[in-house]
Amino acid sequence: MLLKIVKSFLLAFVFFTALNAVAYNAQAEKDRKALHKYFNKKFKNPVRNAAKFFPHFSKKELKRDFFRGVKSKDLYKGLYSFHKPSKEQYDDFNEFPPYEFAIDEGEKIFNKKFANGKSLKTCLGGAKIKNKYPYFDTKRNEVITIEQAINECRVKNGEKAFKTGKGPLAKVSGYIAFKSRGQVIKVKIPNKAAQKAYERGKKMYYGKSGYLYNSCAACHVQGAGNRVRTEFLSPLLGAVTNYPVYRIKWKSLGTLHRRIQGCHRDQGNVKLKRQSKRLKELEYFMTYMSNGMKYDGPDIRK
Ligand code: HEC
Repeated sequence: MLLKIVKSFLLAFVFFTALNAVAYNAQAEKDRKALHKYFNKKFKNPVRNAAKFFPHFSKKELKRDFFRGVKSKDLYKGLYSFHKPSKEQYDDFNEFPPYEFAIDEGEKIFNKKFANGKSLKTCLGGAKIKNKYPYFDTKRNEVITIEQAINECRVKNGEKAFKTGKGPLAKVSGYIAFKSRGQVIKVKIPNKAAQKAYERGKKMYYGKSGYLYNSCAACHVQGAGNRVRTEFLSPLLGAVTNYPVYRIKWKSLGTLHRRIQGCHRDQGNVKLKRQSKRLKELEYFMTYMSNGMKYDGPDIRK
């Protein structure tokens, strides 16, 4: 009898913890699914859906310049997934990918021994690790990004941290991205604190701020596919899949945080620090939204 009671207690306990494990990402899953649904509708047939999603285009332009039948999971190439003229330009750039040297240099930095004989490779294991990041460290109570892990490995071994926008860090990150091509994004939300970090990231994405009193979502969700000045707006889904990227404007490989910093500042905000808590949580949210999509970096952008 006693055994039976203990057993049923145990069962209830296991059931309860399992239920809780699901609950931490329940809202995030809802958000992610809703986003996929939205983008599936939006890009399936831009001409037919013009009134709802693209009222500022002529039918002629939509017909001429937009691919049809684009699915949400195809959006991992940013605006090149749906906009024909941009894709053509991208294909030209890609004939001789300007980031190839950077990947080679990144590989050297990855394997190079520190003064103490260890290396980035020693800390990180192999280079095919992109989809282990970002993750929520339940002991440290914070989001850990790949760029942070690289720098922490250096500091732990007596080396100086790299600058976080471009240069050696972007190159190592580019090498890791290259080796990890095809990996599927699988960000987890392991506990309550992680759930809160996700919520803060989401709030930052959807909340209005800055001189323009605008939000990331206004441009990259509702606005995705539309034109702002000479640019076409890329969707939130897949925004993180190609990073780091070689930007023609930068003439070098740059990190995701460098890119987001630019957008955030252009909204009329005080510049955020790369690898700051807020940017890491924003990255956590954005990457969760792209769960199930493939990594395909590094890449080229205008
Ligand atoms: C006023 C519109 C606007 C707002 C607001 C805005 N962006 Fe952007 N963003 C752009 C434009 C234009 C580009 C360049 C074209 C593109 O790739 O979308 C861009 C590019 C990006 C890219 C690069 C995408 C890629 O495929 O390389 C990321 C990432 C990004 N934005 C994130 C953000 C985040 C995060 C926020 C909020 C903090 C934000 N943006 C706010 C207009 C905006």
